[in-house]
Amino acid sequence: MPVNQLFSRDSDNFRPSAIRAFARLINDPNIISFAGGVPSPETFPAEMLAEIAAEIIRERKAVALQYGPTRGLPGLREQIARICAGRGFTASPDDIIVTTGSQQALDLIAHTFLDPGDVVLVELPTYIGATASFLARSADLAGVAQDEDGLNPRSLREVATQLIREGRRVKMLYTIPNFQNPSGRLMTQARRPEIVALALELGFLIIEDDPYGELVYTNQADTTPLRAHDAENVLYLGSFSKILAPGLRCGFLVAGQAIGRKLEIAKEAADLCSGMLDQSIVEEFCRRGALPAQIERVRSFYRGKRNLTIQALERHFGGRASWTSALGGLFTMVTLNGAIDTASRIAVAIERGVAYVPGGPFFVDGSGANTMRLTFAKETDDRLREGIARLADLFNEETS
Ligand SMILES: Cc1ncc(COP(=O)(O)O)c(C=O)c1O
Repeated sequence: MPVNQLFSRDSDNFRPSAIRAFARLINDPNIISFAGGVPSPETFPAEMLAEIAAEIIRERKAVALQYGPTRGLPGLREQIARICAGRGFTASPDDIIVTTGSQQALDLIAHTFLDPGDVVLVELPTYIGATASFLARSADLAGVAQDEDGLNPRSLREVATQLIREGRRVKMLYTIPNFQNPSGRLMTQARRPEIVALALELGFLIIEDDPYGELVYTNQADTTPLRAHDAENVLYLGSFSKILAPGLRCGFLVAGQAIGRKLEIAKEAADLCSGMLDQSIVEEFCRRGALPAQIERVRSFYRGKRNLTIQALERHFGGRASWTSALGGLFTMVTLNGAIDTASRIAVAIERGVAYVPGGPFFVDGSGANTMRLTFAKETDDRLREGIARLADLFNEETS
């Protein structure tokens, strides 16, 4: 029997990532890359991690090199509970499950809640890794509009009520309120309780994904999570990837007891437990009190790059495009004036030594062709300036 007759129905809905396809390009030194979305290795506290890793492997091998609890190391869960308190909401260590990056939390949630045809509400645009997890369970995705203040509650009500009226099962809203990937937007605090109340009224969960909330470059940004407004209906996802190092694959989810228990069993089936060496290292890093200074370092590393990128955009794209202010996180999203398809220009861009991610794949409704996601995480200051100038030349003819 041909092997493709053996694949599951869900596997028809597996989607390769449109962003990872660009990963090859971002390591070519001849290309100035605004593509990819990975943190700069310069922010990784390698020396301290090396020292902690050596100590842990020698002295705590019975924990760090052994299988461990599915929910994660108790000491790390206590540290995470403190991190949550610092972000403005209460989580008991018993409410926390350590995951293999927050990506695993997305997959476990999708597996646990979604049947084929269930609807997940997502922001326009949204993170492709999350939509891949939802699609892999054969869910349908419905887009909700954003504006400068983040997810628009009026659009949320309209889209959700229409679907419910049509008899669709709207299971959850997936949102990235703090410095969203890909748009870089921050949802205002005024909107957060309204969105939480709406989800309760219409009967769906909120999946709050918050890997960028600590990467904040201004005093004016209030990143208090939606979870602070409701501990039952909001599942909170955090990650050490952007504040420490993604190779540690250490993320976490916060959920109440009933949901947490289901997710824990799903995780047992997925991997028994996440890496104990990774968790031991992160726990020790936090226990030494090193995280706040690390976060400060990460912020100051990106703050300058963000400022420089926005200035270069003003200089080269003023009047020809708009872009999000990216007061935190790793991305700004540029919308070009006019009907330009950024995907159609990528091959020429690469010939000219500059790369970006076309915005279209981030929009589940097929819009966004004239947008592109730029990350300021990777390049040196000079190359960031030069790269924006090259992009401006590239789009010059169409936008002027
Ligand atoms: C919004 C969002 N969620 C989740 C992830 C996955 O992160 P992790 O490394 O914690 O799995 C990313 C990674 O870029 C992301 O941008």
